[in-house]
Amino acid sequence: MTPFFNMSDSPRKTVLTCAQPTGNLHLGNYFGAVRNWTSYLDDHECFFGIVDQHAITTPYVPAELRQSVYRTLALYISCGLDPSRCHLFLQSQITGHTELAWILGCLCPLGQLERMTQFKEKSQREDVGFVGAGLLFYPVLMAADILLYNADVVPVGEDQKQHLELCRDLAIKFNATYSNTFRVPDVAIPKAGARIRSLQSPDKKMSKSDPNQSGCVYLLDPPEVIRKKIMSAVTDSSREIRASAEKPGITNLLNILSASTGQTVEALEAAHDGLAYGEFKAVVADAVIACLAPIQARFAEIGEDRSYLDNVLKEGSEVAQKRAYRLLSKVYRKAGFIERSR
Ligand code: TYM
Repeated sequence: MTPFFNMSDSPRKTVLTCAQPTGNLHLGNYFGAVRNWTSYLDDHECFFGIVDQHAITTPYVPAELRQSVYRTLALYISCGLDPSRCHLFLQSQITGHTELAWILGCLCPLGQLERMTQFKEKSQREDVGFVGAGLLFYPVLMAADILLYNADVVPVGEDQKQHLELCRDLAIKFNATYSNTFRVPDVAIPKAGARIRSLQSPDKKMSKSDPNQSGCVYLLDPPEVIRKKIMSAVTDSSREIRASAEKPGITNLLNILSASTGQTVEALEAAHDGLAYGEFKAVVADAVIACLAPIQARFAEIGEDRSYLDNVLKEGSEVAQKRAYRLLSKVYRKAGFIERSR
């Protein structure tokens, strides 16, 4: 590693954020999260995690999880997270996340976890079958992911806001209980793309777990699949291309077009006034296909290169582990644990 990564005397602020390696990343993950992460590369110390320990809180297949980790890593890089300018790490390879989660969990009111929207949604889904305690504890592990690196800023999509509030509460509570230790991180939610909705049920967010997969555009979907999904997006019975609460389908398409082209929703409304919905959908499909083309091209180059990807993880995890140990030792001391010899 170059001295650039020497954390101890880095004056730069720390950014940390993560995504779950469940299946493929989709348009919501890209516009709401990963694309915005690249804006921190120049002037922040950046840690971007792949949180495989979170991914086992709902039923999963181990061999698929491993594949998904590599795919997510290759997608991170293909989306512009240049490993020479940030630390890409795998949660399960770092000692500290689950250890800190335990300590934070002992400070966390049970009722606050039970009130989490995502817990309620996921635990009540009919296809879930069994609700493990890990699903309830999930936001505490997420708080540990962030606090372990003493992050200043956590860029996420809107759906993670409540989890971030819990993280901030836990940082404040730990500091009040054991003395000042953690920074209370700021949350950064993008202006455009913070909540991309399902193309089939625009009242819900676009999600990997959507039972209707045609509502979700994946970053690696071939152009013809992207076009088909967008052309069959649910809209409404009027003809107006305008963003409003009564028109969630068209609003979502306008948001997707805005995120794909960088133009404002207002400018797009004016530019497409009078177009039939079918014609407008074709414009959105073209824009999304063009926006994803460079990502898909880069993925084709590196997606199967296991030795390159392993090396990226090795380098990222080394730096992450150093930083994590430092904070965990401090926390253990404050919690009254006797330090172990490594
Ligand atoms: P995950 O894996 O569901 O999503 C990764 C990122 O994508 C954003 N996102 C969206 N943004 C806009 N529209 C959507 N439809 C959409 N769907 C997802 C999410 O807000 C997120 O930023 N709990 C987290 C992972 C996590 C984490 C962390 C994040 C674990 N530890 C520490 C930040 C810091 C999650 O499940 O994200």
